[in-house]
Amino acid sequence: MRIISVVGARPNFMKIAPFIRAIETYNHQLPPIPITHLLVHTGQHYDDRMSQQFFEQLGIPAADINLEIGSGTHAGQVGHAMIALEKVFVEHTPDWVVVVGDVNATLAASVSAKKLNIKVCHIEAGLRSGDMTMPEEINRLVTDRLADLLLTPDTLSSENLRKEGVPEEKIKFVGNIMIDTLESQREKAASLSIEAIVKENVLPGKQFTFHSSLFSQYALVTLHRPSNVDNPHIIKAIIEFLTKEVTKDMTVIWPIHPRTEKQLANFGLLSMVLDCKKLILLQPLGYHDMLRLNMDASIMLTDSGGLQEECTVLGTPCLTLRWNTERPVTLREHGGASVLVGNNIERIREEYHYTLTRQRKPLQPELWDGNTAPRCVEAILTSGTS
Ligand code: UD1
Repeated sequence: MRIISVVGARPNFMKIAPFIRAIETYNHQLPPIPITHLLVHTGQHYDDRMSQQFFEQLGIPAADINLEIGSGTHAGQVGHAMIALEKVFVEHTPDWVVVVGDVNATLAASVSAKKLNIKVCHIEAGLRSGDMTMPEEINRLVTDRLADLLLTPDTLSSENLRKEGVPEEKIKFVGNIMIDTLESQREKAASLSIEAIVKENVLPGKQFTFHSSLFSQYALVTLHRPSNVDNPHIIKAIIEFLTKEVTKDMTVIWPIHPRTEKQLANFGLLSMVLDCKKLILLQPLGYHDMLRLNMDASIMLTDSGGLQEECTVLGTPCLTLRWNTERPVTLREHGGASVLVGNNIERIREEYHYTLTRQRKPLQPELWDGNTAPRCVEAILTSGTS
C-alpha cells in the first residue's frame, strides 16, 4: 500500500511524527501488505524554528518532497500547493493521501487528491468551531466533506460528522494523535531547566536581568490568530493587560510567533513589550521547551488550539483568547482546563483572577492515551483492503 502524508505548518509536525513511527513499527512486523510512505512538506512554514527544529526533535525523517510554497495569501498558498501536489500525486500514484489538522496544506492536499480519485484520510476530523471567519474552519469543512476516512479525536467530533450526514462507515474514533507525541516526549521535556530555556531563546533585542525568582511563578502566553493580532486596538489592549496587570502577580513568558512580531513592529507596539522588565519575549520554541514551560506555568493565555489540548492533559489552567473553540472537550464544563475569554479585557481580567484560585487538574479524555497513531494505521489498512 502506498501512502503520501502531507504537512505544511508547525501544528502538523507533532501529529505526523507518531503516524510515521506507527507505519515503521507496522512494516517491521513484515506484514503481508507493507506500507510505502512518502512525506510531502508544502513549505508553508519555512523558518527553522517553525519547521526544521520539530523534524529534528521529534525524529521525523526529512520530507521526501518540499514544495517550498512559503508565505502568501490563503488562495496563493492553497493554489500553489494544489498545483504542486497534483504533480506529486500523479507521479507517485498513492492509494491514500493522509492529511492532519486544519491548515492550508490539509485543504490543498484533500482537494488535489480527490480530483484525482485518490482516497483521503483525515486525522483530527470532525472538529467544528462554527466560526466561518476562521480560515481553519473552512479547511476542516472542505476536508471532511471530501475525506473517505475520518479519524476523530473525541466522540463530540464523531457526533458533529454524523449530524452533517457523513456515513457511519467513514467515521472512526481513534483519539488524539498529538497526545501520542506529548506522552512520548514528556520525560525528556521534564528534565529541562526553565532558566536555561529562557536564556537560550530570548528574542534578540530584549534586555533583562536574570534571577531565578523570575521563574517561581509565571504566565505563559502565545498569540497568533488574525482575530487577535491583526487589529492594533485589540493587540494593544491585550499587551497593556499583560504588562500592567499580570506582571504585578508574576513573570510573563511569551514565545512570539513571527506573524505577531511583524504585526507588533507594524503597529509600533514592539517597544512596549521589549521595555517591560517582567515580560520576557522569546523566539518560537521547540517542542520540548514549550512542553517544559507549560508543565510549570501558573496559567496559560493562548489562542492556539493545540495548546488548549496540551493544557487539558497537563492540567495547566488556560485562558483561551477566542470566542469559540473547535475543541470543546478542553473546556472546564467538560472537565478540561480551558475557558473561553475572547479578547474582551474585562472578561479576560475576571477569568484571570478566578483562574489563579484554581488548582492544576490534569485530565485524560477518552483515548487520549498515547496510542492513537497505531489505531490510525489500522483504520487505513482496514478501509484500504475492504
Ligand atoms: C498557520 C495555520 C494555523 C496554525 C498556525 C500555527 C493556516 C490557515 N493557518 O497560521 O492554523 O495555528 O499556522 O503557527 O494554515 N511566517 C514566518 N516564518 C514561517 C512561517 C510564517 O515568518 O516559517 C510569518 C510570515 O509573515 C507569514 C505569517 O507568519 O505571512 C503567517 O504565516 P502563515 O503560515 O500564513 O499562517 P500562520 O499564522 O502561521
